[in-house]
Amino acid sequence: MGAAGTYRRVYEGWSRDPEGFWMKAAAGIDWVRPPTKALNATRAPLYEWFTDAEVNTCWNAVDRHVEAGRGENIAIIHDSPLTHTVRKITYRELRDRVAQLAGALRAKGVGKGDRVIIYMPMVPEALEAMLACSRLGAIHSVVFGGFAAAELAVRIDDCRPKAIIAASCGLEPGRIVHYKPLLDKAIELATHKPAFCVILQREQEVAQLTEGRDVAWHAFQYGVAPADCVPVEGTHPAYILYTSGTTGAPKGVVRPTAGHLVALNWTMSAIYRAGPGEVFWAASDVGWVVGHSYICYAPLIVGATTIVYEGKPVGTPDAGAFWRVIAEHGVKSFFTAPTALRAVKREDPDGALVQDYDLSSLTALYLAGERADPASIDWAWRHLKVPVIDHWWQTETGYAIAANPLGIEELPVKAGSPTVAMPGFDVQVLDESGQPVPPGTLGAIAVRLPLPPGCLPTLWQAEDRFMKSYLAHFPGFYETGDAGYIDKEGYLFIMARTDDVINVAGHRLSTGAMEEVLTSHPDVAECAVIGVADALKGQLPLGFLCLNKGVTRPSEEIVRDCVKLVRDRIGPVAAFKLACVVDRLPKTRSGKILRATMARIADGQPFKMPATIDDPAILDDIRAALVTLGYAHNPAGDAT
Ligand code: COA
Ligand code: AMP
Repeated sequence: MGAAGTYRRVYEGWSRDPEGFWMKAAAGIDWVRPPTKALNATRAPLYEWFTDAEVNTCWNAVDRHVEAGRGENIAIIHDSPLTHTVRKITYRELRDRVAQLAGALRAKGVGKGDRVIIYMPMVPEALEAMLACSRLGAIHSVVFGGFAAAELAVRIDDCRPKAIIAASCGLEPGRIVHYKPLLDKAIELATHKPAFCVILQREQEVAQLTEGRDVAWHAFQYGVAPADCVPVEGTHPAYILYTSGTTGAPKGVVRPTAGHLVALNWTMSAIYRAGPGEVFWAASDVGWVVGHSYICYAPLIVGATTIVYEGKPVGTPDAGAFWRVIAEHGVKSFFTAPTALRAVKREDPDGALVQDYDLSSLTALYLAGERADPASIDWAWRHLKVPVIDHWWQTETGYAIAANPLGIEELPVKAGSPTVAMPGFDVQVLDESGQPVPPGTLGAIAVRLPLPPGCLPTLWQAEDRFMKSYLAHFPGFYETGDAGYIDKEGYLFIMARTDDVINVAGHRLSTGAMEEVLTSHPDVAECAVIGVADALKGQLPLGFLCLNKGVTRPSEEIVRDCVKLVRDRIGPVAAFKLACVVDRLPKTRSGKILRATMARIADGQPFKMPATIDDPAILDDIRAALVTLGYAHNPAGDAT
């Protein structure tokens, strides 16, 4: 722990001289051409960092550790309770495998700036594919395996990849996820067609290759020359990662190369206290931002060992799975989502399984992805006896906006708060007119521009949408889409989203996207999807369906169709299982659907009757429908 006030001094140091702060942090990176200047504000409010630098991500994550004599250190441990295997890959092996894969991609014409979609489960080859792209300066876009073919197709059409790298299958407890048929369907649906696909055949399911388009992972690498690292400019996109926005069209968050390297490297010492030879485990998925930053890039950039875990918190085989992995591999820092902790706590409320393992290597538990409930934090703290660090971030930033920076100073924890703003982020709570509100007052959370290095400079080929979505509402600020408050001591409290995004099991989902799918059902005239509170997953989506006049089919059948439709179009990850038919939706007189009011009724919370409501009686019907689904329990939450 640092001397009291160290965090404040570091934060103020950044605040006085942000460029100096980041230039100093840039010293941790191996540059082909070091930056001469940190910030480029010539197109403000669009900012760039390290514009005149030249660098390669893969070199920094892999090769430099081999050059420094750490080639025999373990880079990746694949621990897969779903296949009952554990596999270790050294930095030297990783370099050779990535160089070979990059060579094969290059031989088929993939080069700097080309996009490559990666659609893979939690296998080391997913990281190798990401790194092979970085090696060539190709821009990868990883798509989460729990998305359906139509979602993959939308991403194919948006980023227009030259190649797609996929696995034959993924594994979920009790079922095989047939990636290859999903991929084939997505390519069929998409307007853009990739030049070729690379398929990693897994022994659990060997897929049929499409002649002339598909090549097998091993065969296509045979006999090609390995590729060296290609230097790219500091602002070159390292990757595109799609995330949910208000509408069905996902946002392609762009990650700039140099800022990404500098910022992630900085967080590994300041927040995670992780360095070479140490074992760092983020139990997420490569399809999410946590997986990009803290399964793949950051642990490798600092020369640590990262764990690729193909399993679940519970059921693979039991609620002791996390503790088994920590003990077996000597994990020092462990990162997961509160929902996973709740799943473990539910099965092992007394922490009996924790006692079965030697967890002496563990020094901290990190939580993110959704609000960490104090009961889970308390459970973890009591049983693991290490600091439990809730930290707040977004796909857009790529790393924590607020955290408890253990590597600088361990600050006292306040339940329900991800602690304080990190250097780089001037976080403000604003009222509707964009004015900062006093401490303790709820408002929209915004970050004063410029955002620090590594955060999104724009959306992929959608600068207007970027400006509209993030910069237009509060000029001079980045709008986070979260609401909350800051207390007198500068602690942040993240309370809710201000848009139609919900958080299901730590996964960010768009209710707008689900509504688009539901309205495509021939019997549905209009609909609304809200997020309702769930003890395990934080939130669950719930749909209200209004049917077309004259529809005679039973409501249950239409609900069943709709549940299937969302699963088929968006994917199982949407966890859309709750829906009901209602006559009308509550609206304002101007026609805006009162989703927030419905959500409060569902959660049994008090609410104010909106002054502009068109017909208050509709809320009684909504409440009745919710009660039949097992919601709207608290009569104290009656309209006032
Ligand atoms: N590929 C294909 N399908 C997937 C998938 C993937 N990579 N990941 C999840 N799914 C499927 C699941 O099998 C499930 O399908 P089902 O409806 O047929 O059961 C569905 O998507 C919903 O999955 P999930 O929300 O994960 O629920 P679950 O009931 O399977 O598991 C938890 C519950 C809490 C154990 C699980 O949500 C979990 O581990 N969450 C942690 C999430 C996390 O780490 N997020 C990262 C944010 S930092
Ligand atoms: P994603 O882009 O998928 O990482 O989701 C980002 C969103 O998840 C944020 O905007 C928040 O709404 C929520 N979130 C992430 N971390 C936290 C946290 N520690 N506390 C509260 N909400 C969080």
